Amino acid sequence: MSAASSSTAFAVVGLSPGRTDALVRALEGAGRLVAADPRRPADREAVLRQAPAVVLVGAGDDPRAALDEAARFARAAEVVLLAPAPDAELLRAAMRAGCRDVLDPADEVGALRDLLAELGERGPAAPGRVLAVLGCQGGVGATTVTVALGHLLAQDPGRNVIVTDIDVSSGDLLAALDLPAGTTTEDVLRRGGAIEVERLRRLVHRHEGGFAVLPQPPEDLDSVSMSRRQADDLLGLLVRAFDDVVVDLGSALAEAARGVVLASDHVVLVATQEVPALRKAARRLLILRDLGVPRERVHLVLNRYHPRLFPSLQEVADQLRHPVIATIANDYKAVNAAIGAGETIFEAHPRSAVARDLRVLKARIFGEAEPGRRGWLR
Ligand SMILES: Nc1ncnc2c1ncn2[C@@H]1O[C@H](COP(=O)(O)OP(=O)(O)O)[C@@H](O)[C@H]1O
Ligand SMILES: [Mg+2]
Repeated sequence: MSAASSSTAFAVVGLSPGRTDALVRALEGAGRLVAADPRRPADREAVLRQAPAVVLVGAGDDPRAALDEAARFARAAEVVLLAPAPDAELLRAAMRAGCRDVLDPADEVGALRDLLAELGERGPAAPGRVLAVLGCQGGVGATTVTVALGHLLAQDPGRNVIVTDIDVSSGDLLAALDLPAGTTTEDVLRRGGAIEVERLRRLVHRHEGGFAVLPQPPEDLDSVSMSRRQADDLLGLLVRAFDDVVVDLGSALAEAARGVVLASDHVVLVATQEVPALRKAARRLLILRDLGVPRERVHLVLNRYHPRLFPSLQEVADQLRHPVIATIANDYKAVNAAIGAGETIFEAHPRSAVARDLRVLKARIFGEAEPGRRGWLR
């Protein structure tokens, strides 16, 4: 691996072309520049396409904006914030944003060269995938879908999966899974970034379904709210501790949820065939587009679907100008039996149409072979 370490691929964002040039010269031999984007925000996709192991983010005169930028890259690469004379607060914030270090490019080129070599040798860390589940309105099944995806992802013994709740209007994961009192999102946030990955893994509740759960606290659900920064902090921690993080966003696309959708590999938008729900879904799709969430990452699902009801699947897709990736059958009894028992649908009613449809949904999201229909029809 030493050959790779002598030329670690790095990108520079948020730094003027002149300063970037100077930096590239100073780092010659330790790393090779694969992408540079002086803008803020930088074109994340374009930069990451060049597969940098390390992204250097210039702090400029707005460290807060630079930290947002750092957090966007921290899930895909090692990030180093370039800031002159960082104070303790900035260091802490940078750590929370997932930065590897904060270095002064004028003063600490030696340290930066060493770090590049070291990070190149180890390769980029592999932070977890993020799946966000968003309901177009309350009650359409966001929590049901979240729990189901958590269960299905956890079927892979190689993946450590967590399901969490950043629903700022009324998180109900705790109730849906009938969890005992345990660690909540609030407990984790109270500890700030000062929580180790191993410890976090031990602290969270493990569900019978094979996944970890981090719910919102039960008390005063209406008064619990999470800021954008708290949501970013929480997600930053979770992706370091788990391979898959499934986030129940409920139906409010508030600031906290916006940070999450931007950081997500997949956003599942849950709607139903009812007209009000579809109208809200149309608005959610526009917001997601305006936020810059790539269209192919947004998966529209129709829950409580009935093929004989109107509008039809095709009409929905035409109206919303977005394909419907999957439908989920309407089976109130099965779904509520599961919720009543604190189980996932796969534990309570593994052969139900709802369970089957959710397996298909998961396969389609991840581009996997679809589970065949078992039984005599086959
Ligand atoms: N496929 C379905 N068929 C029938 N009822 C469903 C289905 N999915 C969800 N429900 C019911 O809808 C209600 C709300 O579901 P939930 O997942 O909590 O929605 P949200 O989190 O969007 O508010 C629950 O009572 C649940 O039993
Ligand atoms: Mg819910």
